Amino acid sequence: MHHPTDRTTKLAVVGAGAVGTTLAYAALARGTARTVALLDVNREKVDAEVLDLQHGQMFVPQAQIVGSDDVAVCEGADVVVVTAGAKQRPGQTRLDLAESTVNLTRKIMPALVGVAPDAIFLMVTNPVDVVTYAAQKYSGLPHERVFGSGTVLDTSRLRAAIAAQAGVAVGNVHAYIAGEHGDSEIALWSSASIGGVPLLEWKGLSGRPALDAELRSQIAADVVQSAYRIIGGKGATNYAIGLAATRIIEAVLKDEHRVLPVSSHLEDYYGIGDVCLSVPALVDRRGATETIEVPLSDEELRDLRASAERVRATQRRFGL
Ligand code: LAC
Repeated sequence: MHHPTDRTTKLAVVGAGAVGTTLAYAALARGTARTVALLDVNREKVDAEVLDLQHGQMFVPQAQIVGSDDVAVCEGADVVVVTAGAKQRPGQTRLDLAESTVNLTRKIMPALVGVAPDAIFLMVTNPVDVVTYAAQKYSGLPHERVFGSGTVLDTSRLRAAIAAQAGVAVGNVHAYIAGEHGDSEIALWSSASIGGVPLLEWKGLSGRPALDAELRSQIAADVVQSAYRIIGGKGATNYAIGLAATRIIEAVLKDEHRVLPVSSHLEDYYGIGDVCLSVPALVDRRGATETIEVPLSDEELRDLRASAERVRATQRRFGL
């Protein structure tokens, strides 16, 4: 496969709903790829979205925007990101969406691989861990070339909350949410740090609290509830997931070797295997190539195992 930066890079976005169009917009604004292709079954909608994006071209780095209801529009893409599928309604969990989105994944993956055989596939559609596992199965591609956005978004939510409490820039916070992108996700407090100081030893800047167990528990609960709060207020989440996915895509297209908690196929992660789950992994032009065994407390390992079992139970329900 060519190294994408040797020539114009192409990003294909499957699904022109709120997430897909926000992702396309973010990719254009950041100059992520030279061609952005939008695919959606609703031709009138995708044509309108493409037109609206094209009208902003004067304000963003040079890029071509194309769209269609024909999968051929994804021809030769370097990265294909899949956002299509049912969206969570108020009160629904992400796992509740599994039946419809696993069926959709079974339907679209062979066609997408047919037109973009060398692409890296990033799954965003929920429940993203189960959908990623399904996409790996139905694509027949090596596991590292098909992975999911996982808890990159949740990790951003966690770091933003820690930064706000600690009174430091979010770039000075290193902390991960791991596990299911969903209700069983866990905050890895034991390996978190603020400005190079282990978070659990952080004394707090003047006039600011240390992050004691009660505050940490509240922050973690708020992260888990974030999507429900937003969906309850505006019907869907789109901005942060669009930015998170764009960041992951850049790690691939720019071969960044960036460590991100994407949903990848675990073989033997502290004994956890045969499941797609988010743990810190290396993302570069080959995809999600290697997981990193961050130190875990006994409680964190217990909760990660429970999260894996919850996802695997859903995998089994749909014969994956
Ligand atoms: C969220 C969706 C992307 O967490 O699951 O906002």
